[in-house]
Amino acid sequence: MHVLILGAAGMIGRKFAESLAAQPLDGGAVTRMTLADVVLPQVPAGFDGAAETLAVDVASPDAITALLSSQPDVIYHLAAIVSGEAEANLEKGYKVNLDGTRLLLDAIRHQHDRDGWTPRFVFASSNAVFGGDFPDVIGDDYIVTPQTSYGTQKAIGELLLADYTRRGIVQGIGLRLPTICVRPGKPNAAASGFFSGIIREPLVGLEAILPVPDDTRHWMTSPRSAIGFLRHAATMDLTRLGDRPNLSMPALSVTVAEQIAALEKVAGPRATALIRRVPDATIARIVAGWARAFDPKRALSLGFTAETSFEAIIRAHIEDELGGELRHV
Ligand SMILES: NC(=O)c1ccc[n+]([C@@H]2O[C@H](COP(=O)([O-])OP(=O)(O)OC[C@H]3O[C@@H](n4cnc5c(N)ncnc54)[C@H](O)[C@@H]3O)[C@@H](O)[C@H]2O)c1
Repeated sequence: MHVLILGAAGMIGRKFAESLAAQPLDGGAVTRMTLADVVLPQVPAGFDGAAETLAVDVASPDAITALLSSQPDVIYHLAAIVSGEAEANLEKGYKVNLDGTRLLLDAIRHQHDRDGWTPRFVFASSNAVFGGDFPDVIGDDYIVTPQTSYGTQKAIGELLLADYTRRGIVQGIGLRLPTICVRPGKPNAAASGFFSGIIREPLVGLEAILPVPDDTRHWMTSPRSAIGFLRHAATMDLTRLGDRPNLSMPALSVTVAEQIAALEKVAGPRATALIRRVPDATIARIVAGWARAFDPKRALSLGFTAETSFEAIIRAHIEDELGGELRHV
């Protein structure tokens, strides 16, 4: 199987490529990987198939046409300007997240019309397609009501995916990813960053800032589960999606207090003592507008799975990012 990952230098793209190198998919091994991103991606260590890496701007028509000429079997579209930046820079967000997605699908259409190529197309959507005055628990039939430019761009991407799938140009599936926690690496500027920071930093003996009240509730899952979603989407029977190729992924609805209690259980009170409460009204207001819980029946019935305790999410982070050991707390 030939897999193209667009956005392969990002957090999820990098981990996904590593996972494909380490373990075959249910339907067979990946024999060829094309890794593309605006930043040149790296080939994962240990991959013994054919690999190519390309620096490509998804918003550049010529580059996208050239990228697709090798006609991969599965295309993962993970490239995006993420929430904070898309809100701060309207022009850039629409150019990459909307124009880039349309361009990509249209470049596939040209080749499809020429020779019938119909790749599987996995789109990384987001819970940000929901916003505003939603219920405590969002079911699979809830209306898409984005309240940010990023969420709007993802919602339009979902509609494009559904239309190009309906027309038989791609075999599409859109995964509404929850917030990924614990996000590895350095803290980033995302307003949601503290959900990861209050776990990631204390586990290595560093202080973390908590800007919201302890009863703040959010929907999150581990990078490991997110990679599992992408792997499952490569080979699952897409006819089971019917006319609705976009769906909310399973995750865990937890409060910050529950996150901290799980951290204490795993790493003890010296770790939780490193969390410093510094209220930030702006962040609290942004977070209050986010979905707190979903009832993702469709995804569960289609075989997508996620952790069912926050302790399991922390343990996955320790195994995957800290070599399975706590050295600093
Ligand atoms: N991490 C999360 O919590 C989360 C939640 C919901 C949805 N998502 C979605 O999942 C996908 C991957 O997220 P991530 O956390 O790995 O984000 P990330 O920011 O780490 O990765 C995104 C990648 O897209 C690349 N990119 C940006 N502009 C590009 C362009 N013009 N052309 C080509 N590549 C470009 C970036 O260089 C980056 O490597 C994104 O589409 C994101 O919107 C992520």
